[in-house]
Amino acid sequence: WAMYAEDIEAIQRLKREQDAVILAHNYMTPEVFHGVADIRGDSLALAREAQHVDAGTIVLAGVHFMAETAKLLNPAKRVLLPDLRSGCSLAESITPQDIAALRAQHPGAPVVTYVNTSATVKAASDICCTSGNAVQIIRSLGVDKVIMIPDQYLARNIAALTGVEVVTHPGACEVHERFTPLDIVQIREGHPGVTVLAHPECPPDVVAEADFAGSTADMQRYVETEHPVSVALITECSMSDNLAAQHPDLEFVRPCNLCPHMKRNTLGAIRTALETGGPEIDVDSAVAEPARHAIERMLAVR
Ligand code: 13P
Ligand code: SF4
Repeated sequence: WAMYAEDIEAIQRLKREQDAVILAHNYMTPEVFHGVADIRGDSLALAREAQHVDAGTIVLAGVHFMAETAKLLNPAKRVLLPDLRSGCSLAESITPQDIAALRAQHPGAPVVTYVNTSATVKAASDICCTSGNAVQIIRSLGVDKVIMIPDQYLARNIAALTGVEVVTHPGACEVHERFTPLDIVQIREGHPGVTVLAHPECPPDVVAEADFAGSTADMQRYVETEHPVSVALITECSMSDNLAAQHPDLEFVRPCNLCPHMKRNTLGAIRTALETGGPEIDVDSAVAEPARHAIERMLAVR
């Protein structure tokens, strides 16, 4: 941590000077997550918390769609994303035209859009979901068929849990699609008694090999309520690093995969964002209102 001390101290000072708070996703590296973040969580928690930020500036230590969501939910605030290149393979996989084509093929089916999408795509949707609330969102609609985009694996995993017919799109998370069922078989062989928790962005055959599937916050809750002695988190690497810092007695089994987009949020990038006041995220006024509606409709489902 000595190598991070100067940046951490500078960021803490800049936050006070700039009336800023840092919202950090669970995939931030520990020096960001535990060193400078004010609010931490999964995509759902960060969206909920963004609504209630009083400070003038939000620094979103995460990816572009998370910064857009914060801006949509708290438009009076200045929202900074430390590196504009922090994208997401899911967000890049789909356009509003793809949604229009799906609606034409499946008339009447509501469009449930994963938050890992651009505001433009959200604006073309009926309601959003995250991996933490997808089952509740689908059930709240009370229909037997939905269009759930853009993550084909999340859609198939949620279809299996709800029994609702799900039409999807060939999007995937470049981090979670790399896991295979064999990875889990080998983890169990090498670590008898390990509990395997998989993110639902993983392919269904990977989820089928796991003991539990859920969002990053669900994984944290599982660890803190079920008290396993050894866990393998089938997700982005920093999730284990951050939980390990809070649970030194728990054994964390790797492998894991890195998200290159999340990893652009270095202390240096966060410090520069606070020093320069940019890059700032704004949402086109033509899409802001319908996109906000799709997110707020999601947040109203409890
Ligand atoms: P959650 O933290 O909502 O589970 O999302 C995982 C993810 O891949 C975010 O980009
Ligand atoms: Fe997108 Fe996957 Fe990275 Fe999350 S982990 S930002 S879903 S590419």
